Amino acid sequence: MNLLVTGAAGFIGSHFVRLVRRVRPDWTVHVLDALTYSGNGTTMADFLADGGVMFHHGRIEDHTKVTEIVQGNQIHQIVNFAAESHNDRSLVSGSSFLVSNAMGVENLLNVVRENQLQRFVQVSTDEVYGTIAEGQFTEETPIAPNTPYSASKAAGDLQCRAHFKAYKTPVVLTRGGNTFGPFQYPEKLIPFFATRLIQGKHVPLYGDGSQIREWIHAEDHAAGVLHVLENGLVGEAYNIGDVNERTNLEILEVLLEETGRGQELVINIEDPRKGAHDARYSMATDKLQALGWKPEKEFIPSLRSTIQWYRENRDWWEPIVQDPQYQAFVKQYYGKYLGDLL
Ligand SMILES: NC(=O)c1ccc[n+]([C@@H]2O[C@H](COP(=O)([O-])OP(=O)(O)OC[C@H]3O[C@@H](n4cnc5c(N)ncnc54)[C@H](O)[C@@H]3O)[C@@H](O)[C@H]2O)c1
Repeated sequence: MNLLVTGAAGFIGSHFVRLVRRVRPDWTVHVLDALTYSGNGTTMADFLADGGVMFHHGRIEDHTKVTEIVQGNQIHQIVNFAAESHNDRSLVSGSSFLVSNAMGVENLLNVVRENQLQRFVQVSTDEVYGTIAEGQFTEETPIAPNTPYSASKAAGDLQCRAHFKAYKTPVVLTRGGNTFGPFQYPEKLIPFFATRLIQGKHVPLYGDGSQIREWIHAEDHAAGVLHVLENGLVGEAYNIGDVNERTNLEILEVLLEETGRGQELVINIEDPRKGAHDARYSMATDKLQALGWKPEKEFIPSLRSTIQWYRENRDWWEPIVQDPQYQAFVKQYYGKYLGDLL
């Protein structure tokens, strides 16, 4: 099998390629990634060195590029992780989100149809469902996104649905929960706080920290996507989540403990997302579990080992946090709350 994985220079896509190399060593894997701010060549260093993975630099919305890769390498299936992925950035400006997350998906769907590929897995998010006070999102829950990021992901989901309905394009969707683990760009809660606390810097906690997220380890998320690639029914969506509902405050406590830092480094800030900050996400995953997948990782031990990974892999994240582009984002977003403590 010749598989094209997009966005594998990023966080979850890189875990997916590592998993595929381990459990399907006879597959040939091609990676397409634009190496945006969150895509990092060193994240791929291990699997690019193993000879079974080929890297292509380019954008998923580039029809010529994607067609060349597909036709030149007899690609059978595509898994799309490529996306603008950070909610907070989308609240500053949402345009690039629509380009990658909607136009990019539309382009991949066209290439899948034109070349009669066997399958296209679109990696989406539980955030397309919006927020839920009680109970759980199922795959039947109507989508109701609350941020420009989640709206752009929902647009991609709807394009997938439309291509399945209109052309019978063999599409399967996954909707994953908040994901954590090694190699996550230090702008999302866990790596942002972990890297700042390791450096002895202050961390900004949104509101009272009571927002509830359902966390899943990147290796479990990647295994869910592989399971859907191999077993999911075309035209269906599958939630990929774990039962780890935690408040941001609970996560912070483990972060402080593991980094040996105290509450004096925590600054409670007015929630910059305000009305767009979903209070709770929670997903039912029975549909994918009925196909034989289940998450394997225990939350607290794997959160601790993730923080330990950031402690031990400063050479991966230090160049990122020292990058002027990263510092400009942190300043733009948190400057007014952290001031001199940036
Ligand atoms: N991180 C989470 O908690 C989470 C949860 C659920 C779903 N998801 C989804 O999983 C996917 C991967 O998320 P992630 O956290 O690994 O993101 P990430 O930001 O770490 O990685 C995204 C990768 O996509 C690449 N990319 C971005 N736009 C591109 C484009 N137009 N063409 C080619 N490459 C492009 C980037 O260079 C980067 O390597 C996304 O689709 C995201 O919506 C993420």
